[in-house]
Amino acid sequence: MQSPFSFAVTPEIHFGTGTGAEAARAAAGFGRRMLLVSGGESHTRSEHFGRFLKAAENAGIEFTQVKISGEPSPEPIDRAVRENLAGGIEVVLAWGGGSAIDAGKAIAAMLKKGGPLIDYLEGVGSKKYDGERLPFIAVPTTAGTGSEATCNAVISRVGRNGFKRSLRHKKLMPDLAFVDPLLTLSCPHQTTASGGMDAFTQLLEAYVSRGASPFTDALCESALPGAVLWLPRLLDGESDNLEGRSAMSYAALVSGLALTNANLGAVHGMAGPLGGLFPIPHGAACGTLLAPVTEKTIAGLFRENPAHPALEKYARVGRLLSARPVNEKTAACRQLVETLYRWSDDFGMPRLSEYGIGEHDLDTIVAASANKNNPAELDRTDMRAVLLQRL
Ligand SMILES: [Fe+2]
Repeated sequence: MQSPFSFAVTPEIHFGTGTGAEAARAAAGFGRRMLLVSGGESHTRSEHFGRFLKAAENAGIEFTQVKISGEPSPEPIDRAVRENLAGGIEVVLAWGGGSAIDAGKAIAAMLKKGGPLIDYLEGVGSKKYDGERLPFIAVPTTAGTGSEATCNAVISRVGRNGFKRSLRHKKLMPDLAFVDPLLTLSCPHQTTASGGMDAFTQLLEAYVSRGASPFTDALCESALPGAVLWLPRLLDGESDNLEGRSAMSYAALVSGLALTNANLGAVHGMAGPLGGLFPIPHGAACGTLLAPVTEKTIAGLFRENPAHPALEKYARVGRLLSARPVNEKTAACRQLVETLYRWSDDFGMPRLSEYGIGEHDLDTIVAASANKNNPAELDRTDMRAVLLQRL
Protein backbone atom coordinates (compact mmCIF):
# COMPACT_ATOMS: atom_id res chain seq x y z
CA MET A 1 0.00 0.00 0.00
CA GLN A 2 1.21 3.50 -0.78
CA SER A 3 2.43 5.37 2.34
CA PRO A 4 0.67 8.69 2.99
CA PHE A 5 2.37 11.83 1.71
CA SER A 6 1.66 15.48 0.97
CA PHE A 7 3.17 17.66 -1.71
CA ALA A 8 3.74 21.45 -1.78
CA VAL A 9 4.92 23.39 -4.80
CA THR A 10 5.64 26.96 -5.94
CA PRO A 11 2.27 27.94 -7.51
CA GLU A 12 3.79 29.18 -10.78
CA ILE A 13 7.19 28.13 -12.13
CA HIS A 14 8.50 29.49 -15.42
CA PHE A 15 11.55 27.55 -16.55
CA GLY A 16 13.62 28.24 -19.66
CA THR A 17 16.07 30.55 -21.36
CA GLY A 18 14.72 34.09 -21.52
CA THR A 19 12.11 33.66 -18.78
CA GLY A 20 14.02 36.04 -16.46
CA ALA A 21 12.97 38.93 -18.69
CA GLU A 22 9.30 38.21 -17.89
CA ALA A 23 9.71 38.70 -14.14
CA ALA A 24 9.21 42.49 -14.23
CA ARG A 25 5.83 42.24 -15.95
CA ALA A 26 4.75 39.58 -13.46
CA ALA A 27 5.80 41.82 -10.55
CA ALA A 28 3.64 44.64 -11.94
CA GLY A 29 0.67 42.33 -11.50
CA PHE A 30 1.09 42.67 -7.72
CA GLY A 31 1.61 46.45 -7.61
CA ARG A 32 3.86 49.37 -8.60
CA ARG A 33 6.07 49.57 -5.50
CA MET A 34 8.70 46.83 -5.56
CA LEU A 35 11.51 46.01 -3.17
CA LEU A 36 14.29 44.46 -5.23
CA VAL A 37 16.62 42.20 -3.24
CA SER A 38 19.77 41.36 -5.17
CA GLY A 39 22.94 39.41 -4.62
CA GLY A 40 26.57 40.10 -5.45
CA GLU A 41 27.88 42.57 -7.99
CA SER A 42 28.46 39.98 -10.72
CA HIS A 43 24.73 39.36 -11.15
CA THR A 44 23.68 42.99 -11.06
CA ARG A 45 26.31 43.98 -13.64
CA SER A 46 24.92 41.51 -16.17
CA GLU A 47 23.11 42.57 -19.34
CA HIS A 48 20.12 40.45 -18.21
CA PHE A 49 19.74 42.47 -15.04
CA GLY A 50 19.90 45.69 -17.05
CA ARG A 51 17.15 44.40 -19.32
CA PHE A 52 15.06 43.42 -16.32
CA LEU A 53 15.40 46.94 -14.83
CA LYS A 54 14.37 48.47 -18.16
CA ALA A 55 11.33 46.17 -18.32
CA ALA A 56 10.41 47.16 -14.75
CA GLU A 57 10.61 50.81 -15.72
CA ASN A 58 8.43 50.19 -18.80
CA ALA A 59 5.89 48.40 -16.61
CA GLY A 60 5.63 51.53 -14.43
CA ILE A 61 7.33 49.94 -11.42
CA GLU A 62 9.15 52.09 -8.88
CA PHE A 63 11.67 50.14 -6.89
CA THR A 64 14.07 50.33 -3.98
CA GLN A 65 17.07 48.01 -4.08
CA VAL A 66 18.60 46.09 -1.18
CA LYS A 67 21.89 44.25 -1.73
CA ILE A 68 22.70 41.13 0.25
CA SER A 69 26.27 39.85 0.20
CA GLY A 70 26.98 36.40 1.56
CA GLU A 71 24.62 34.14 3.49
CA PRO A 72 22.09 36.36 5.27
CA SER A 73 22.20 37.10 9.01
CA PRO A 74 19.27 38.74 10.84
CA GLU A 75 20.80 42.25 10.91
CA PRO A 76 20.66 43.19 7.17
CA ILE A 77 17.12 41.79 7.00
CA ASP A 78 15.96 43.87 9.97
CA ARG A 79 17.71 46.95 8.52
CA ALA A 80 15.98 46.52 5.15
CA VAL A 81 12.63 46.09 6.91
CA ARG A 82 13.14 49.21 9.07
CA GLU A 83 14.09 51.31 6.06
CA ASN A 84 11.15 50.16 3.93
CA LEU A 85 8.36 49.55 6.43
CA ALA A 86 6.70 52.88 5.65
CA GLY A 87 7.44 52.73 1.94
CA GLY A 88 4.19 51.16 0.78
CA ILE A 89 6.02 48.17 -0.73
CA GLU A 90 3.56 45.91 -2.60
CA VAL A 91 5.83 43.16 -3.91
CA VAL A 92 9.30 41.80 -3.10
CA LEU A 93 11.42 40.33 -5.91
CA ALA A 94 14.74 38.59 -5.28
CA TRP A 95 17.28 38.44 -8.14
CA GLY A 96 20.35 36.46 -7.12
CA GLY A 97 21.63 33.24 -5.59
CA GLY A 98 20.10 31.29 -2.72
CA SER A 99 21.23 33.88 -0.18
CA ALA A 100 19.41 36.73 -1.96
CA ILE A 101 16.28 34.60 -2.36
CA ASP A 102 16.30 33.55 1.30
CA ALA A 103 16.83 37.19 2.32
CA GLY A 104 13.97 38.24 0.03
CA LYS A 105 11.61 35.71 1.61
CA ALA A 106 12.50 36.88 5.12
CA ILE A 107 12.09 40.55 4.16
CA ALA A 108 8.71 39.87 2.49
CA ALA A 109 7.61 38.20 5.74
CA MET A 110 9.00 40.78 8.16
CA LEU A 111 7.54 43.70 6.17
CA LYS A 112 4.22 42.28 7.37
CA LYS A 113 5.24 41.11 10.85
CA GLY A 114 7.49 44.07 11.68
CA GLY A 115 10.34 41.91 13.05
CA PRO A 116 12.80 41.47 14.54
CA LEU A 117 13.46 38.40 12.43
CA ILE A 118 15.26 36.48 15.19
CA ASP A 119 12.01 36.27 17.19
CA TYR A 120 10.49 34.11 14.44
CA LEU A 121 13.41 31.78 13.67
CA GLU A 122 12.85 28.06 14.30
CA GLY A 123 14.61 26.92 17.46
CA VAL A 124 15.88 30.42 18.25
CA GLY A 125 12.97 32.85 18.69
CA SER A 126 9.86 32.55 20.84
CA LYS A 127 7.23 33.64 18.30
CA LYS A 128 5.52 31.34 15.83
CA TYR A 129 5.58 32.65 12.26
CA ASP A 130 2.09 32.40 10.75
CA GLY A 131 3.04 32.68 7.08
CA GLU A 132 1.81 36.24 6.56
CA ARG A 133 3.98 38.02 3.97
CA LEU A 134 4.02 40.33 0.95
CA PRO A 135 3.83 38.79 -2.55
CA PHE A 136 7.25 37.33 -3.39
CA ILE A 137 8.93 36.47 -6.70
CA ALA A 138 12.20 34.51 -6.99
CA VAL A 139 14.63 34.81 -9.90
CA PRO A 140 17.66 32.56 -9.20
CA THR A 141 20.95 33.48 -10.87
CA THR A 142 22.82 30.44 -9.59
CA ALA A 143 22.05 26.71 -9.67
CA GLY A 144 22.28 25.67 -6.03
CA THR A 145 19.90 25.78 -3.10
CA GLY A 146 16.63 25.56 -5.03
CA SER A 147 15.27 28.19 -2.65
CA GLU A 148 12.88 29.24 -5.44
CA ALA A 149 10.91 26.07 -4.60
CA THR A 150 11.26 25.81 -0.82
CA CYS A 151 9.13 27.13 2.02
CA ASN A 152 11.95 28.27 4.28
CA ALA A 153 14.56 31.01 4.44
CA VAL A 154 17.90 30.01 5.95
CA ILE A 155 19.38 32.66 8.23
CA SER A 156 22.69 32.33 10.04
CA ARG A 157 24.80 34.05 12.62
CA VAL A 158 28.30 32.63 12.50
CA GLY A 159 30.36 32.21 15.66
CA ARG A 160 30.86 30.31 18.91
CA ASN A 161 27.18 30.66 19.84
CA GLY A 162 26.16 30.85 16.22
CA PHE A 163 23.22 29.30 14.43
CA LYS A 164 21.95 28.46 10.99
CA ARG A 165 18.19 28.29 11.29
CA SER A 166 15.09 28.76 9.20
CA LEU A 167 12.12 31.04 9.02
CA ARG A 168 9.63 28.44 7.86
CA HIS A 169 6.01 28.21 6.83
CA LYS A 170 4.32 26.52 3.90
CA LYS A 171 3.08 29.97 2.82
CA LEU A 172 6.72 31.13 2.51
CA MET A 173 6.93 29.32 -0.84
CA PRO A 174 7.44 32.02 -3.54
CA ASP A 175 4.33 33.01 -5.50
CA LEU A 176 6.29 32.83 -8.73
CA ALA A 177 9.70 31.55 -9.78
CA PHE A 178 11.45 32.45 -13.03
CA VAL A 179 14.26 29.95 -13.56
CA ASP A 180 16.36 31.14 -16.47
CA PRO A 181 19.58 29.16 -17.16
CA LEU A 182 20.96 32.13 -19.14
CA LEU A 183 21.35 34.00 -15.84
CA THR A 184 23.75 31.35 -14.53
CA LEU A 185 26.19 31.56 -17.46
CA SER A 186 28.25 34.20 -15.65
CA CYS A 187 28.54 32.16 -12.44
CA PRO A 188 32.17 31.90 -11.33
CA HIS A 189 33.78 28.45 -11.10
CA GLN A 190 33.62 28.32 -7.29
CA THR A 191 29.90 29.17 -7.20
CA THR A 192 29.15 26.64 -9.92
CA ALA A 193 31.04 23.98 -7.94
CA SER A 194 29.58 24.64 -4.49
CA GLY A 195 26.06 25.38 -5.78
CA GLY A 196 26.16 22.31 -7.99
CA MET A 197 27.28 20.11 -5.11
CA ASP A 198 24.51 21.52 -2.91
CA ALA A 199 21.88 20.80 -5.58
CA PHE A 200 23.25 17.28 -6.20
CA THR A 201 23.39 16.55 -2.45
CA GLN A 202 19.80 17.73 -2.05
CA LEU A 203 18.67 15.52 -4.94
CA LEU A 204 20.48 12.46 -3.56
CA GLU A 205 19.41 13.01 0.06
CA ALA A 206 15.77 13.63 -0.87
CA TYR A 207 15.80 10.61 -3.23
CA VAL A 208 16.90 8.16 -0.50
CA SER A 209 15.14 10.00 2.34
CA ARG A 210 12.74 8.24 4.70
CA GLY A 211 10.28 10.99 3.68
CA ALA A 212 10.47 10.26 -0.07
CA SER A 213 7.25 9.71 -2.03
CA PRO A 214 6.52 8.60 -5.61
CA PHE A 215 6.23 12.31 -6.50
CA THR A 216 9.66 13.22 -5.15
CA ASP A 217 11.20 10.01 -6.58
CA ALA A 218 9.92 10.90 -10.06
CA LEU A 219 11.24 14.43 -9.74
CA CYS A 220 14.70 13.32 -8.54
CA GLU A 221 14.91 10.69 -11.28
CA SER A 222 14.13 13.39 -13.86
CA ALA A 223 16.99 15.61 -12.66
CA LEU A 224 19.80 13.28 -11.56
CA PRO A 225 20.93 12.10 -15.03
CA GLY A 226 21.44 15.70 -16.24
CA ALA A 227 23.21 16.69 -13.04
CA VAL A 228 25.70 13.79 -13.10
CA LEU A 229 26.41 14.36 -16.78
CA TRP A 230 26.83 18.11 -16.73
CA LEU A 231 28.23 19.16 -13.35
CA PRO A 232 31.69 17.68 -14.09
CA ARG A 233 31.68 19.10 -17.63
CA LEU A 234 30.68 22.64 -16.52
CA LEU A 235 33.60 22.50 -14.10
CA ASP A 236 36.02 21.19 -16.69
CA GLY A 237 36.16 23.84 -19.38
CA GLU A 238 32.52 23.91 -20.52
CA SER A 239 31.20 26.60 -18.15
CA ASP A 240 29.49 28.43 -21.00
CA ASN A 241 27.57 25.41 -22.25
CA LEU A 242 23.91 26.45 -22.09
CA GLU A 243 22.63 22.87 -22.22
CA GLY A 244 24.73 22.08 -19.16
CA ARG A 245 23.66 25.25 -17.35
CA SER A 246 20.04 24.35 -18.13
CA ALA A 247 20.50 20.84 -16.68
CA MET A 248 21.91 22.29 -13.45
CA SER A 249 19.23 25.01 -13.15
CA TYR A 250 16.67 22.24 -13.51
CA ALA A 251 18.52 20.08 -10.97
CA ALA A 252 18.58 22.93 -8.45
CA LEU A 253 14.88 23.71 -8.92
CA VAL A 254 13.94 20.05 -8.53
CA SER A 255 16.22 19.67 -5.51
CA GLY A 256 14.27 22.46 -3.81
CA LEU A 257 10.93 20.82 -4.61
CA ALA A 258 12.26 17.45 -3.46
CA LEU A 259 13.74 18.65 -0.16
CA THR A 260 10.56 20.56 0.69
CA ASN A 261 8.51 17.42 0.29
CA ALA A 262 10.89 14.58 1.21
CA ASN A 263 13.26 16.31 3.65
CA LEU A 264 17.04 15.73 3.70
CA GLY A 265 19.66 13.53 5.35
CA ALA A 266 22.75 13.58 7.53
CA VAL A 267 24.86 15.76 5.17
CA HIS A 268 22.46 18.64 5.74
CA GLY A 269 22.03 17.59 9.35
CA MET A 270 25.75 18.24 9.86
CA ALA A 271 26.15 21.15 7.40
CA GLY A 272 23.66 23.24 9.42
CA PRO A 273 25.64 23.43 12.67
CA LEU A 274 28.94 23.58 10.75
CA GLY A 275 27.74 26.71 8.93
CA GLY A 276 26.49 28.29 12.15
CA LEU A 277 29.72 27.72 14.07
CA PHE A 278 32.25 28.37 11.29
CA PRO A 279 32.33 30.60 8.18
CA ILE A 280 32.01 27.71 5.73
CA PRO A 281 29.63 28.35 2.81
CA HIS A 282 26.70 25.93 2.70
CA GLY A 283 27.51 24.35 -0.67
CA ALA A 284 31.14 23.78 0.34
CA ALA A 285 30.04 22.12 3.61
CA CYS A 286 27.68 19.79 1.74
CA GLY A 287 30.22 19.09 -0.98
CA THR A 288 32.97 18.13 1.43
CA LEU A 289 30.75 15.88 3.62
CA LEU A 290 28.81 14.13 0.87
CA ALA A 291 31.22 11.30 0.00
CA PRO A 292 32.02 10.08 3.56
CA VAL A 293 28.39 10.43 4.74
CA THR A 294 27.16 8.47 1.72
CA GLU A 295 29.83 5.81 2.30
CA LYS A 296 28.84 5.41 5.98
CA THR A 297 25.10 5.41 5.18
CA ILE A 298 25.46 2.73 2.49
CA ALA A 299 27.65 0.59 4.79
CA GLY A 300 25.06 0.94 7.57
CA LEU A 301 22.22 -0.07 5.28
CA PHE A 302 24.06 -3.15 3.98
CA ARG A 303 24.82 -4.12 7.59
CA GLU A 304 21.28 -3.62 8.93
CA ASN A 305 19.06 -4.43 5.98
CA PRO A 306 20.58 -5.30 2.58
CA ALA A 307 17.07 -5.23 1.06
CA HIS A 308 16.47 -1.60 2.11
CA PRO A 309 14.92 0.26 -0.86
CA ALA A 310 17.35 3.18 -0.46
CA LEU A 311 20.21 0.87 -1.48
CA GLU A 312 18.62 0.26 -4.87
CA LYS A 313 18.25 4.04 -5.28
CA TYR A 314 21.94 4.61 -4.41
CA ALA A 315 22.80 1.85 -6.89
CA ARG A 316 20.71 3.52 -9.60
CA VAL A 317 22.69 6.75 -9.17
CA GLY A 318 25.92 4.71 -9.18
CA ARG A 319 24.91 3.19 -12.51
CA LEU A 320 24.31 6.69 -13.93
CA LEU A 321 27.88 7.52 -12.99
CA SER A 322 29.44 4.43 -14.49
CA ALA A 323 30.90 4.34 -17.98
CA ARG A 324 30.19 0.58 -18.22
CA PRO A 325 27.08 -1.43 -17.21
CA VAL A 326 27.02 -2.31 -13.49
CA ASN A 327 24.14 -4.57 -12.59
CA GLU A 328 25.20 -5.77 -9.17
CA LYS A 329 23.94 -3.52 -6.32
CA THR A 330 27.12 -3.60 -4.22
CA ALA A 331 29.32 -2.69 -7.21
CA ALA A 332 26.97 0.13 -8.28
CA CYS A 333 26.96 1.59 -4.75
CA ARG A 334 30.78 1.37 -4.69
CA GLN A 335 30.84 3.23 -8.02
CA LEU A 336 28.75 6.02 -6.47
CA VAL A 337 30.99 6.41 -3.42
CA GLU A 338 34.20 6.33 -5.49
CA THR A 339 32.84 8.99 -7.85
CA LEU A 340 31.77 11.24 -4.98
CA TYR A 341 35.30 11.08 -3.50
CA ARG A 342 36.74 11.90 -6.93
CA TRP A 343 34.33 14.83 -7.31
CA SER A 344 35.46 16.18 -3.90
CA ASP A 345 39.01 16.39 -5.22
CA ASP A 346 38.24 17.41 -8.81
CA PHE A 347 35.76 20.14 -7.81
CA GLY A 348 38.05 21.56 -5.12
CA MET A 349 35.79 20.87 -2.15
CA PRO A 350 37.59 22.34 0.88
CA ARG A 351 39.06 20.70 3.94
CA LEU A 352 37.31 21.76 7.16
CA SER A 353 40.61 22.99 8.62
CA GLU A 354 40.60 25.74 5.96
CA TYR A 355 37.81 27.35 8.00
CA GLY A 356 39.62 27.13 11.33
CA ILE A 357 38.01 23.87 12.38
CA GLY A 358 40.22 21.63 14.55
CA GLU A 359 39.88 18.21 16.14
CA HIS A 360 38.87 19.87 19.46
CA ASP A 361 35.77 21.32 17.73
CA LEU A 362 34.38 18.01 16.49
CA ASP A 363 32.38 17.02 19.59
CA THR A 364 30.61 20.40 19.61
CA ILE A 365 29.68 20.02 15.92
CA VAL A 366 28.50 16.43 16.41
CA ALA A 367 26.40 17.36 19.46
CA ALA A 368 24.49 19.90 17.34
CA SER A 369 24.17 17.61 14.28
CA ALA A 370 21.14 15.56 13.25
CA ASN A 371 20.39 12.62 11.02
CA LYS A 372 17.24 14.30 9.68
CA ASN A 373 15.63 11.70 7.38
CA ASN A 374 18.82 9.82 6.54
CA PRO A 375 17.89 6.25 5.51
CA ALA A 376 20.44 4.85 8.00
CA GLU A 377 21.09 6.33 11.43
CA LEU A 378 24.64 7.67 11.78
CA ASP A 379 25.70 7.65 15.43
CA ARG A 380 28.04 10.16 17.06
CA THR A 381 31.09 8.00 16.35
CA ASP A 382 30.17 7.87 12.64
CA MET A 383 29.64 11.63 12.44
CA ARG A 384 32.91 12.33 14.26
CA ALA A 385 34.75 10.01 11.88
CA VAL A 386 33.24 11.83 8.86
CA LEU A 387 34.37 15.23 10.18
CA LEU A 388 37.83 13.91 11.14
CA GLN A 389 38.26 12.51 7.64
CA ARG A 390 37.50 15.93 6.10
CA LEU A 391 39.60 18.10 8.49
FE1 LIG B 1 21.47 22.53 0.78
